[in-house]
Amino acid sequence: MKILVTGGAGFIGSNFVRFMLSKHSDMEIVNVDLLTYAGNLENLAGLEDEPRYTLERGNIADPDRMNSLFEEHDFDAVVNFAAESHVDRSIHMGAHDFIMTNIYGVQVLLDASREHGVERFLQVSTDEVYGSLGAEGLFTEDSPIQPNNPYAATKAGADFMVRAACETHGLDAVITRCANNFGLYQFPEKLIPLMITNAIEDKELPMYGDGLYIRDWIYVPDHCSAIDLVLRKATAGSIYNIGGEHDLTNLDIVSLILKLVDKPESLIKHVKDRPGHDRRYAMDSSKIRADLGWEPDYSFKDAMDATVSWYLDNSDWWKRIRSGEYQEYYSRMYEK
Ligand code: NAD
Ligand code: TYD
Repeated sequence: MKILVTGGAGFIGSNFVRFMLSKHSDMEIVNVDLLTYAGNLENLAGLEDEPRYTLERGNIADPDRMNSLFEEHDFDAVVNFAAESHVDRSIHMGAHDFIMTNIYGVQVLLDASREHGVERFLQVSTDEVYGSLGAEGLFTEDSPIQPNNPYAATKAGADFMVRAACETHGLDAVITRCANNFGLYQFPEKLIPLMITNAIEDKELPMYGDGLYIRDWIYVPDHCSAIDLVLRKATAGSIYNIGGEHDLTNLDIVSLILKLVDKPESLIKHVKDRPGHDRRYAMDSSKIRADLGWEPDYSFKDAMDATVSWYLDNSDWWKRIRSGEYQEYYSRMYEK
């Protein structure tokens, strides 16, 4: 099987490339990535000499580039991770790149997949398309699509374009909607790596609002195994929620991180809240469990221990990121 992975130099994409190459000896992967601020070839270190892996730099929103890539390679399937993925950037730095990559780029990939006879298109989506939950209940695949921030709105737009390609043009397409991921190689603008790296450096930990916002956390290899199953086993047109089934407030997560790195709670600083901040996400994963037999391989505790240890042992990786463009972003976001 030869697959196109888009956004494979980012956090989840790079974990997925490694996961698939080690799990399936007959799998060939072409990774197309624009290498934006979030794309990092260090995430794929060690794969340079892997004959089943090829890296192509390219923009999924460039139809000529995508068409020549699809012509050159005869892809059996496409797994689309490429996205602008950070909610705060979509609020504070404008939605243009989010619309171009997350909606238009997806349409370019759908058209190219159709024209070149790709047998399966998998769109990696998010629980954020459902909006926010009240104190009770879980998101199911039938929950209404009610995105509240520009990032989530573009991901919802993409889901609708995928549905339309399937219903109207008969493209074999499936969608996964996953909870908040954490793990190795996550860019330190997202909650868990931001708080780990700030705590290691004795910097303040910026907690939005009261810190009682709830997210469902999943360890990235468990997301990868779910995508692998959906890619190979799901029926055309299906949608699957993937949850970590581990709901925690942001304050609980950050307290746990502080314990693991042995730093005081006094580092926590409550700051101005995120506008349109979704109060609670929680996923019902019973459909993927029942239909495809998916279950997570890792306990939350082991996964958090492994993640914190990795950031402690790999400070070169995140210190390089935290110089350059990141400094400008951090100062704009948290200091100005
Ligand atoms: P990320 O920001 O770490 O990586 C995104 C990657 O896409 C980067 O390598 C970037 O260079 C690349 N990219 C961006 N624009 C591109 C373009 N126009 N053409 C080609 N490549 C481009 O993101 P992530 O956290 O790994 O998320 C991957 C996917 O998973 C996204 O689609 C996201 O919406 C979805 N998702 C993420 C989470 C999460 O918790 N991180 C949860 C559910 C779903
Ligand atoms: P984030 O990692 O940005 O993921 P998402 O917004 O996609 O769920 O944020 C997770 C939670 O952490 C969210 O409730 C916002 C909160 N948060 C903070 O309190 N402080 C921060 O500096 C960041 C980045 C997030």
